[in-house]
Amino acid sequence: MKGNVDDPMSAEFGTVAEWTAHVARDLGPEYHIPAACRGSGQPAALDWLLAGLRPRPGDVLADAGAGTGGPAAYAAGHTGVRPVLAEPEHGACRAAAALFHLPVVEADATALPLGDASADVAWCLGVLCTAEGPDAQVAILRELRRIVRPARRIGLLVYLATTGQLDDPPQGNHFPACGQLTALLGGAHLEVLAVADASGLPRPSPVWRDRTAAVERELQRRFGNTAQLAAATEQSRRIARLLKSGQLTAQVLVVRGR
Ligand SMILES: C[S@@+](CC[C@H](N)C(=O)[O-])C[C@H]1O[C@@H](n2cnc3c(N)ncnc32)[C@H](O)[C@@H]1O
Repeated sequence: MKGNVDDPMSAEFGTVAEWTAHVARDLGPEYHIPAACRGSGQPAALDWLLAGLRPRPGDVLADAGAGTGGPAAYAAGHTGVRPVLAEPEHGACRAAAALFHLPVVEADATALPLGDASADVAWCLGVLCTAEGPDAQVAILRELRRIVRPARRIGLLVYLATTGQLDDPPQGNHFPACGQLTALLGGAHLEVLAVADASGLPRPSPVWRDRTAAVERELQRRFGNTAQLAAATEQSRRIARLLKSGQLTAQVLVVRGR
């Protein structure tokens, strides 16, 4: 089974993802989306991306690296899109299916099992930095371009390094440098239509924050003594510290094939 403590990313995106779904189900339906958006997709960023993607009701939204499915469920609720989720961690796939009953394929975004031009829009949120380096990052961007209909749009949320040497980075991540993103997008023949710094977008509402805090408390109460939750929490803390110190920035982008 994945989700072991020797691999903090697997603990975070596998085991803890599944525990999060259990907690959210016990707390109630209004906790499902906030709980499953703890990966990276906050409401203001999702709203910004959806405004730029311009999906029509019934459009297929492919979510590459969908985590526990919160952003995709949010998109379905706000725009009427039909999400299709791709996610490599078995625990996260099970969590997304259990919480939202959305179609999920267990797959790596460098080789999406989706046909050419089979999606109307796509997004990939907080995933590029978890890929193994520039080659895998370009491969993900190429796959997004391949599966989306020509002239339609792709949303990205990316964490970028503003310095060559990050203090105490989370394990297993490969953050592109700010200047590298242009080359990665160019390598996938994607052009940028809009970009924003996620830190400039509004914070989640107090109700949303209360719900994610309740999920956090309950996760700690049930699993606080496990190495998996400790590893996942430490990964999140390191990213939060780097964002706060400015060594990382989070950008949202709307891009399209050239
Ligand atoms: C920070 S989480 C973001 C999850 C979700 N997109 C969100 O915003 O809530 C990163 C996700 O990317 C997934 N991931 C890591 N490497 C991947 C790859 N090569 N292809 C697709 N997904 C990947 C992880 O399993 C994890 O679920």
